[in-house]
Amino acid sequence: MSLKVGNLIYRGKAKDIYETDDPKKVIVKFRDSITAGDGEKKDEIELKGFYNSLISAKLFEVLEDAGVKTQYIKLITPGYMLSKRLKMIPLEIITRNIAAGSLVRRFPFKPGEEFKLPIVQMDYKSDEYKDPMLNDDIAIAFGLVNKEELKFIRKTTLKINEVLLDFLKSKGILLPDFKIEYGYDPDGNIVLGDEISPDTCRYWDIETCDVLDKDLFRKGETGVIKAYKKVASMILDKNDKKKWNVEI
Ligand SMILES: Nc1ncnc2c1ncn2[C@@H]1O[C@H](COP(=O)(O)OP(=O)(O)O)[C@@H](O)[C@H]1O
Ligand SMILES: [Mg+2]
Repeated sequence: MSLKVGNLIYRGKAKDIYETDDPKKVIVKFRDSITAGDGEKKDEIELKGFYNSLISAKLFEVLEDAGVKTQYIKLITPGYMLSKRLKMIPLEIITRNIAAGSLVRRFPFKPGEEFKLPIVQMDYKSDEYKDPMLNDDIAIAFGLVNKEELKFIRKTTLKINEVLLDFLKSKGILLPDFKIEYGYDPDGNIVLGDEISPDTCRYWDIETCDVLDKDLFRKGETGVIKAYKKVASMILDKNDKKKWNVEI
């Protein structure tokens, strides 16, 4: 397959964004770099980008099929996703179904406690300010978004949560929480961007309760790539593997 990649627009901690011939489209390259703790802990894990691109592509397709508008155009080849070029909104929208991570460090929740209603949390995406949690009024005062846009983001996020919870459950995976990012597409609509991978979500195996996400790396445990591979093998079906020419 011939892959024409244009100039590099942005190099993040885990992905590179490249121009294409079309100013409305970019190529998102999923790298093997992995970081935790605001980039303090860093490593390269072979094939991480490969699996993350496949998992993200599959979940974007599931969401598009359920009527959620996303950046996703297609997975050109594993590692490289053709996407709409977005003007990103610097918010990390975190949805929580089960208490874990920073929530149990900052608040008196019991780890593993299930919430009756999902919690939608917003952090300001800023390495300089260390991603502080914010609320609607702060986001609006910053001029990051207006009230209607926040309403749309919350509604869309809850729908994304429902769709992902159902789909992943059918594949044997629990979704304690996940982080997503939105941006404005070239027509000015707010759509889901970035990635939905084990770097940005917690995935637990329903049967074994095994952790299948970046928490393994955060805690310095082994088997990170084995877990990412397992997620890919659990969620991709025969047609996906044929379409993307992969054996997992
Ligand atoms: N479709 C898109 N168009 C433009 N930028 C995007 C798109 N999707 C994601 N981005 C941005 O690309 C950057 C690269 O991703 P990543 O490596 O995760 O960076 P970061 O270290 O900033 O989280 C992020 O800042 C993300 O907001
Ligand atoms: Mg990122």
